[in-house]
Amino acid sequence: MSQLTDRIKEEIHEAVLNSKDELESFRLKYISRKGRITELLSKIGSVAPHERKEFGQKVNHLKELAHKKFSEAKEKLEKNNEGNNSGIRALDDPTLMPAPPAFGRLHPLSQTQQMIKDVFFRLGFTISDGPELEDDFHNFTALNFPPEHPARDMQDTFFIKKTDNDDEDDLVLRTHTSPVQIRLMQSSKPPFRSIMPGRVYRNESITAKSYCLFHQVEGLYVDKDVSLAELIDTLVMFVEMIYGEGVRYQIRPSFFPFTEPSLEMDIWWGDEKNGKWLEILGAGMVHPNVLKACGVDPEIYSGFAFGMGVERIAMLLYGIDDIRHLYDNDLRFLQQF
Ligand code: PHE
Repeated sequence: MSQLTDRIKEEIHEAVLNSKDELESFRLKYISRKGRITELLSKIGSVAPHERKEFGQKVNHLKELAHKKFSEAKEKLEKNNEGNNSGIRALDDPTLMPAPPAFGRLHPLSQTQQMIKDVFFRLGFTISDGPELEDDFHNFTALNFPPEHPARDMQDTFFIKKTDNDDEDDLVLRTHTSPVQIRLMQSSKPPFRSIMPGRVYRNESITAKSYCLFHQVEGLYVDKDVSLAELIDTLVMFVEMIYGEGVRYQIRPSFFPFTEPSLEMDIWWGDEKNGKWLEILGAGMVHPNVLKACGVDPEIYSGFAFGMGVERIAMLLYGIDDIRHLYDNDLRFLQQF
């Protein structure tokens, strides 16, 4: 028995208690009710009666020793931690460079919009602006959407009432940036060479490919003798400047009430074999009816217009496969740009 108490005494002396974990396992092993010292005491019945007194003293001594060692180590550890909390550690080297500060950055959509603007600034375009809450005239009628014409259903519209007791929905959240073309042509004289970036809204279900709001950059170029060839040239130059010269694109005929002829441009998404065409913009020659509605003589002037989707362009540029990432504001996503 006395051999055992001696061994435990030695163990306690040698125990290293430099961390919380070490402290806790020491406590469990020696001090707790299931620890080795309690276990020793329970064996007192098997000790020869004349040795019991001495054995009891030894065990009590062990108990004191363990408690003392434990509380001293605990105190020391707590003191060290306080030092850490004050922010100063003995080992810190004051000559080291501090950790770099975390900088904010532009949202990938803002970066993409800036790239688009830069391309058109180089081509001599200026910027124009219009309201997001539009009237039916600017969003549809002046753009040659006949009343009740099914073309109005091409874009699912959020209708807004002017007042509570108004029966008619005469305001809309603009479904595209094309109404800014109308506002620009009504408010000044040709020639026009302008881009119109902004937010647009559609009452569509939210999926990986569509969202209830998104961004467009509209473009309008009106002058004497503007041709379809110039439009195509401009669009090809645009995609080559954004995606590089090797970009795979296609231009195909389409329909918009406000352009004639109309076209759409697609960019290839994926590698050679596995991929698909993604539409990035609609465009066309400004319809004579639109010029007339704005007081521009279609016998003298012609022009082209385009409207591109900023989200689509960003998704292709950065390889983002779900439009909702652009609106979640998850830092793990945003910090990649
Ligand atoms: N406004 C069209 C759309 O949102 C795009 C477009 C703009 C097409 C200008 C032709 C000319 O889909």
